[in-house]
Amino acid sequence: MPSDGPPTHLIRLADLGPDRVRDVLDLAARLKGRPGRGELAGKTAGMLFFRGSLRTRASFEAAVNQLGGQTLNLTAMSDFWDLEERDGSVMDGRAPEHVKDAAAVLSRYVDLLAIRPAQQGLSWDVDRQDREIQAWSRHATVPVINMESAQRHPLQGLADLMTMREQLGKLDGKRLAVTWVHSPEPATVGVVHSLLHAALQEGMEVRVAHPPGYELDGGVIAEVEELAQDTGGSLSTGLALEDAVEGAQIVYARSWQSLEDYGNKTLGASHRSRLTDWKIDEKLMELGDDAKLMHAMPIRRNVEVSDAILDGPRSLVYQQAENRLHSQKALLLTLLR
Ligand code: CP
Repeated sequence: MPSDGPPTHLIRLADLGPDRVRDVLDLAARLKGRPGRGELAGKTAGMLFFRGSLRTRASFEAAVNQLGGQTLNLTAMSDFWDLEERDGSVMDGRAPEHVKDAAAVLSRYVDLLAIRPAQQGLSWDVDRQDREIQAWSRHATVPVINMESAQRHPLQGLADLMTMREQLGKLDGKRLAVTWVHSPEPATVGVVHSLLHAALQEGMEVRVAHPPGYELDGGVIAEVEELAQDTGGSLSTGLALEDAVEGAQIVYARSWQSLEDYGNKTLGASHRSRLTDWKIDEKLMELGDDAKLMHAMPIRRNVEVSDAILDGPRSLVYQQAENRLHSQKALLLTLLR
């Protein structure tokens, strides 16, 4: 169903801008705790997964269904095939179809496309460009939502911001510790990049702890530092765990892969094996200011975060996961009504 004007995409939070993000979260707060009223009756959301998901898939599908809409759910390699995203390419390789054609066709079947693209995992210089999700947004004629690319996870960013607002009220000047934690299988860095954007657009004091070699993407850091200049927020990176958590109201744990070792799994695993003491426990949390724990999940219990914290009063992780549902409902209403 091609639209009349260019659609609004959500590839990164900056696509909505701070005011619209706040409007979406105000609406999400109103929607929380009330069933949908069929606002999306007659609308279909297409969902394409090139990688696995539990929360994003389930919460997005539940959000559409609760608002009276329908989902069309497709998984790469079982429901369809490799897609080429480079414009002008000679397609004599693996991919039998171009995103340009798939996006044009699917735009005639659905009202919105929500996509979790593949991550090649070979070169950060390549993956950091988010070429696949960018290609979908160029070629689709309906809104495209990024359900987690290499660089960004804007849906998680919305739920994270909603959760921090619920917990702390006004966020400017509040202290957020983002802590790298050890995991045998590190996750994408996109969650942290979107979290930094969300927190700094609200003027938070953000302190990031990570070991040497786990620096965040330089382009994203430059972008969010510019944002912080406008909002009065601040960002420090490369801190020790204790220094980041000292005085923090929120401690956000995430294991992300080293962008230096990116593409070299053996080297990455070898470096991480020396970092098993990077984890969250009660002793660390006590350094904060009545600190609460957030985590995008999935969590490796007693590797990333202790059971005592996850199962105790400091944990916001289920509230945070629930807020995926409410914030996505608000986003859907914003983009589709
Ligand atoms: N937080 C998050 O995106 O979870 P999933 O990978 O399970 O979707």
